[in-house]
Amino acid sequence: MKLFLLLSAVGFCWAQYTPHTKPGRTSLVHLFEWHWADIALECEQYLAPNGFGGVQISPPNENVVINNPSRPWWERYQPVSYKLCTRSGNEDEFKDMVTRCNNVGVRIYVDAVINHMSGSGVGAGTNSTCRSYFNPGSRDFPAVPYSGWDFNDGKCKTGTGEIENYNDPYQVRDCRLVSLLDLALEKDYVRSKIAEYLNHLIDTGVAGFRIDASKHMWPGDMKAVLDKLHNLNTSWFPEGSKAFIYQEVIDLGGEPIKSSEYFGNGRVTEFKYGVKLGTVLRKWSGEKMAYLKNWGEGWGFMPSDKALVFVDNHDNQRGHGAGGASILTFWDSRLYKMGVGFMLAHPYGFTRVMSSFHWPRHFENGKDVNDWIGPPNDGGVIKRVTINPDTTCGNGWVCEHRWRQIRNMVAFRNVVDGEAFTNWWDNGSNQVAFGRGNKGFIVFNNDDWPLSVTLQTGLPAGTYCDVISGDKSGGNCAGIKIYVSSDSKANFSISNSAEDPFIAIHAESKL
Ligand SMILES: *[C@@H]1O[C@H](CO)[C@@H](O)[C@H](O)[C@H]1NC(C)=O
Ligand SMILES: *[C@@H]1O[C@H](CO)[C@@H](O)[C@H](O)[C@H]1NC(C)=O
Ligand SMILES: *[C@@H]1O[C@H](CO)[C@@H](O)[C@H](O)[C@H]1NC(C)=O
Ligand SMILES: *[C@@H]1O[C@H](CO)[C@@H](O)[C@H](O)[C@H]1NC(C)=O
Repeated sequence: MKLFLLLSAVGFCWAQYTPHTKPGRTSLVHLFEWHWADIALECEQYLAPNGFGGVQISPPNENVVINNPSRPWWERYQPVSYKLCTRSGNEDEFKDMVTRCNNVGVRIYVDAVINHMSGSGVGAGTNSTCRSYFNPGSRDFPAVPYSGWDFNDGKCKTGTGEIENYNDPYQVRDCRLVSLLDLALEKDYVRSKIAEYLNHLIDTGVAGFRIDASKHMWPGDMKAVLDKLHNLNTSWFPEGSKAFIYQEVIDLGGEPIKSSEYFGNGRVTEFKYGVKLGTVLRKWSGEKMAYLKNWGEGWGFMPSDKALVFVDNHDNQRGHGAGGASILTFWDSRLYKMGVGFMLAHPYGFTRVMSSFHWPRHFENGKDVNDWIGPPNDGGVIKRVTINPDTTCGNGWVCEHRWRQIRNMVAFRNVVDGEAFTNWWDNGSNQVAFGRGNKGFIVFNNDDWPLSVTLQTGLPAGTYCDVISGDKSGGNCAGIKIYVSSDSKANFSISNSAEDPFIAIHAESKL
């Protein structure tokens, strides 16, 4: 009885922190702006066979069609209704994606935009992805329906109705974020409409939510919404499973609103992670990889079991959100692969891999003036993701998750899941190495001179294939071979001019 109570208490309390990925699958990939039909195919053809746990999708609900500028990616952060009808597909296509991904054990996580509706200055009409009428001026969104009573205009105390001061938590929660009409989440009616939307998604089979702009909602209001949610669909999830929740809270320190206020609701995005890792790999501010020895809580990050971590996201890869120059992206591919490799090898946090589209980046006075550009499209219609003979993507899709180095590190993380952080080595500079129990070992050389060293790996004796420089297929290795002796030691040599100056070996890359 006592044990039962303990187990059910643990199950209940920890549920929303658990991603419900299939056992042995430990990462998400954000397929930013992909069409649902392409995500369904990607689940079946690539993500399941390569051990990806799930997909974060772009917001699936109806949004404003912005024509000036032409169809920016951020129009999807301006809801018009909760109809599943966007440039990524309609409700049938959405259901087909969720079903097919779940059937191959890949989970779907929805980017839930529930803090606000459209911008206040958008003209009334039916310029929305499903042609629903809306009138931001009169706060009328009949397709939900929401009316003037359902927004925070009366509650916000600034003259402009906008957030003017981030040091005032009331403004940040009750006023408009960049003109977006702020929903009155203290009202049970609003909470119920949002919960109805999220429950529709849960019933369809989604496993959880990224909650957009969580910092701009009171944690208690969010909890009231989350308390209304159904358990996950038992066609794919154990009875009693709660949706995985990760909240977008940008807390780099120095503001009154803290990530920790949101821990009761679920996990929280740890924005310090990418900012700091980028600073270290770029060797800015006197940082070096040797300092990564106590990476994680030791760097002032939130507790690992509350953290959702990433090297870059769709905002800060283009200077939005907590964008800083230090953020590593596919534009700096050499450092980026090292950064993602480090993240996936290190035990801290639940990891999300970014998968982007190309845009014509153009800097004026240090700012990318093309930071608004939306996904590859033909006259507004999102282009399909084509796959090249070498397994990379075409049509303007970057597909970082298909880069060998990143795909193989997703597998590395699965293999070392649950193993301790062990056998740290560094040269006091930017040459570092660490193991994960007796399952995996990784070595980096981010110094300006070669590395040549004998290290204790913790691995059983044998010949291992480095999964960064090549793939193991059958008994063959297309990359560097590493010999581990019976005392678990191995010699590593990494040129500082190598395209990928890191080596990773694990139990399943043993030849
Ligand atoms: C809807 O979009 C079209 C095409 O850009 C534009 O001409 C029209 O003015 C828009 N309507 C409103 C009400 O904004
Ligand atoms: C769960 O998913 C199945 C398969 O799509 C569906 O038939 C069923 O109605 C869903 N359950 C709920 C509670 O909606
Ligand atoms: C770093 O490593 C290299 C060779 O691995 C070594 O020569 C050097 O002394 C080490 N330490 C520093 C601080 O550079
Ligand atoms: C490492 O290299 C040294 C020198 O070549 C050699 O004596 C030693 O056996 C090697 N160790 C392993 C584990 O291969």
